[in-house]
Amino acid sequence: MPSQNATLNKQELVVLAIKDEANNIRSFELALGDRGDLPVVEAGAHLAVHLSNGLTRQYSLFDAPGIKNSYRVAVLKDPQSRGGSQYLHEQVKVGDKLSVSGPFNNFPLSPNSASALLIAGGIGVTPILSMAHHLHRCGTSFELYYCARNLQEAAFVDLLRDSVPFKESVEMYFDGGDPSKGLDVKALLATVVEGRHLYCCGPGGLMNAVEAASSHWPADTVHFERFKADPVTTAANTEFKVYLARSKVELVVPCDKSILKVLKEAGFEIDTVCEEGVCGSCLTDVLEGVPEHRDQILTDDEKSANDVIAVCCSRAKSGRLVLDL
Ligand code: FES
Repeated sequence: MPSQNATLNKQELVVLAIKDEANNIRSFELALGDRGDLPVVEAGAHLAVHLSNGLTRQYSLFDAPGIKNSYRVAVLKDPQSRGGSQYLHEQVKVGDKLSVSGPFNNFPLSPNSASALLIAGGIGVTPILSMAHHLHRCGTSFELYYCARNLQEAAFVDLLRDSVPFKESVEMYFDGGDPSKGLDVKALLATVVEGRHLYCCGPGGLMNAVEAASSHWPADTVHFERFKADPVTTAANTEFKVYLARSKVELVVPCDKSILKVLKEAGFEIDTVCEEGVCGSCLTDVLEGVPEHRDQILTDDEKSANDVIAVCCSRAKSGRLVLDL
């Protein structure tokens, strides 16, 4: 479940600096107008950036966690951009203001890990880098495997390759676009080491390969950060009802609308960022009924408890859900 530290809510932050970190990867440093302290950052956390073109996007923080008076996020200019990364790369300048919520953390380090295996692909290195800073600071042993197509598309290479905190613990793989020349995740993950946790963030192909190769690891030792939903196979949509217990309102959710859409149309304000089941911002308590979970944020255990639902994408197995709204 996402951690619940103090967060900004659509706060305007000034762009202090913009830096090219690699081909098509740019970092943005953001601060309050008075340079005051910002909410504490945990390793693995991200910001939600509300862009003036109406889009909200999530970007991971890559610095060492702690109290900050500026945040840095790294953004990959995605050729398939639906407007978020393209807008940041092409329109935003130093001195501009961005509306920011967060930090949120759906990818926290486990307090119980004796050691950590970190696997990053491409821009997925951003939350992994903040984790590595934290693990180094705590003296927890870790190995970091960083995969990218080539050196030019890999960010923070000098830091990872040459700096004291990382150089002994980091291996880099550049596969030129051919996964068979990259990191052998099957071999890497074959042995389960007691107390070791695995953290992975990167493109869907890498995360799916890591997920398959770690299927014999204890479920609570394997952690993924997804910013884009993978396609999921779902049952055909059926109509159901939601009863909002605090408001004493019953609504019908037809086959062609999400719970979120129905709630918004009825005038309810629901926090959302991704609207595709990967950020956790719309999670709502379920008081009765059985959700049909379609999100990629809740763990299997959290899904089986059936006491919370991502209203942006999930539906109902029962004819009626009672929500704490
Ligand atoms: S809005 Fe992101 S999980 Fe629902």
